[in-house]
Amino acid sequence: MHDPTLTVLSGTGLSKAFGKGGKAVQILHGLDIALPRGALSLVKGPSGCGKSTLLAILAGLTAPHAGTVDALGARLWAMKPAARDAFRLKHMGFIFQGSILFPALRAHEQIELVLGHMGIPARQARERAMAALADVGLGPRAALRPDALSGGEKQRVAIACALAKQPRLIFADEPTSALDTENGEMVSRHLRRLASEHGVTVICVTHDDRLSPFADRIYHMRAGRIDRIETEVAR
Ligand SMILES: Nc1ncnc2c1ncn2[C@@H]1O[C@H](COP(=O)(O)OP(=O)(O)O)[C@@H](O)[C@H]1O
Ligand SMILES: [Mg+2]
Repeated sequence: MHDPTLTVLSGTGLSKAFGKGGKAVQILHGLDIALPRGALSLVKGPSGCGKSTLLAILAGLTAPHAGTVDALGARLWAMKPAARDAFRLKHMGFIFQGSILFPALRAHEQIELVLGHMGIPARQARERAMAALADVGLGPRAALRPDALSGGEKQRVAIACALAKQPRLIFADEPTSALDTENGEMVSRHLRRLASEHGVTVICVTHDDRLSPFADRIYHMRAGRIDRIETEVAR
């Protein structure tokens, strides 16, 4: 078992079904998961097994039918919705497949918009945005709009955006799936660094095997539960 003192995000007895009555399909069957602090954890499993659903439940975006989520010591689904939204804004960053950027905004403005929502003053938001873009190697491209960026660069803007929030938790859903070999590897390395160098707890759901060598831990999902855990994968 995991050392509970090091667990920063956990789901216990999570159940979820979609559809009603006889047509209901049970996706999660009392799933338990506990993620160690500052690690890059992957959740792997075939398409349709419920990875995105699990991530959304752990991030406070989709309510489970049963079970609890504890994030940074807070019981996420016992909070009022507004408190949960505020918690998410403050503590969680998100990276999705082909992350969506605003067409009209420059790379640094994408990030500043999010930081503005957090109540961070404009000057500080600019500094944080530029630092985060430099961190993912996009310093010289900070003033470009999405049109002028490659797929890999756009995904690095999304990573910089998640990083600039300085969250404790980062959630990634298939962040490499739309990318070629080189860009997929680059994004994998950045996720690795978020954990190793910035101490962020990163949970990434994916069916992409290319991410595996970068992970500290791999949770294999099967039949709505975590079936097997591989530890000490990376390094
Ligand atoms: N909002 C929804 N309404 C109905 N069915 C859904 C919904 N979200 C997901 N599903 C179904 O739940 C199953 C698991 O989906 P998902 O969590 O996206 O799997 P994965 O991310 O592993 O591919 C799929 O069969 C999907 O069609
Ligand atoms: Mg998915």
